[in-house]
Amino acid sequence: MTASLYPKLPYVAAIVGAGSGIGRAAAQHLADYGVSVVAIDRDEPGAKETVAMIASAGGNATAMRAEATNDAEIRACLNAAEKAHGRLHALINCAAITGKTNLKAHEVDPGEFDTVYRINLRAALVVSQAVLPGMLAKGYGRILHLASIAGKDGNAGMTAYSATKAGLIGMVKSMGKDYAQSGVTVNALAPAVIRTPMVAALPQATIDYMTAKIPMNRCGTLEEAAAMIAWIVSPGCSFTTGFTFDLTGGRATY
Ligand SMILES: NC(=O)c1ccc[n+]([C@@H]2O[C@H](COP(=O)([O-])OP(=O)(O)OC[C@H]3O[C@@H](n4cnc5c(N)ncnc54)[C@H](O)[C@@H]3O)[C@@H](O)[C@H]2O)c1
Repeated sequence: MTASLYPKLPYVAAIVGAGSGIGRAAAQHLADYGVSVVAIDRDEPGAKETVAMIASAGGNATAMRAEATNDAEIRACLNAAEKAHGRLHALINCAAITGKTNLKAHEVDPGEFDTVYRINLRAALVVSQAVLPGMLAKGYGRILHLASIAGKDGNAGMTAYSATKAGLIGMVKSMGKDYAQSGVTVNALAPAVIRTPMVAALPQATIDYMTAKIPMNRCGTLEEAAAMIAWIVSPGCSFTTGFTFDLTGGRATY
C-alpha cells in the first residue's frame, strides 16, 4: 500500500523565495502532491514563472510579490495568503543571499554583513511571526527554514553567510521548544551544495571548496532537496521540532 504524504487536502503551503532554485523545486514537488502553493518572492517574474510551471503540470499555485526584509510588506503578504486560503498549513522560507564570498573576515564590510543578516536571519523571524498566530489558533503548522552546512561547519570566505545560517539554526532550536506542545513544528534544513542560481553566481573557487568537502563527491540535486522538504512539512513529520535536517551527502554526521 502506498499512502500520499498529504492524505488530507486541501493543504496550503506558502513558500518565501519560490521564484528560483530550491524554493521553486519544492513548490513544484508539493504541487505534484496536490498541495496548494503560494509562491512568494521579491522577484515577481520568478514567482510567476514557478506558478506557470505548476499550472502547466496541472497543479494549483498563486504568485505574490514581497520583499522579506520589509516587515510590513511580507507580513501583509502572508496574512493575505492566509485569508485567501482560510489557513496556512506550512511555511517554507528559502529567501537568502550569500553576500560577497571569498573574503576573509577582516575584509567583510559591516554594512554588507547587515544586509545578509537582514535577509537570512531577521526576515526568518518576521516570516515566522506572520504565520504563527494562525497556525497556533488551528493547533497545527509546519515551519521550515533553509539553513546551510555553512551554519554548522563555517565555510571559509563566507563569514556573513555562515554566521547568519548558524544564527538561524539556533533560532529554530529555540522556536521549536517554544511551540513544542502546540502542534506547530519549526525545523531547518541544512544542504551542502545544490546546483541553483545562487550557487552558479559564486566564484568557482568557492564552489570547488564546498563540493570537495562532500564525501559522496557530488552536489545534491533539486529533486533530493524537494523530496526532503515535502517530508518535513507533511503531517507525518510530527515528532521532530527544533531540528536541523541534514542534506549534505555525508559532510555533516551530527
Ligand atoms: N543551493 C545551495 O547549494 C544551498 C546550500 C545551502 C543552503 N541553501 C539555502 O537554500 C535556500 C534557497 O537557496 P537557492 O540556492 O535556491 O537560492 P536562489 O538564489 O536560487 O533562490 C532564492 C530565492 O529567494 C529570493 N529572495 C532572496 N532574498 C529575498 C528577499 N529579501 N525577499 C524575498 N525573496 C528573496 C530570490 O529572489 C530567489 O528567488 C537559501 O536559504 C540558501 O541559503 C542553498
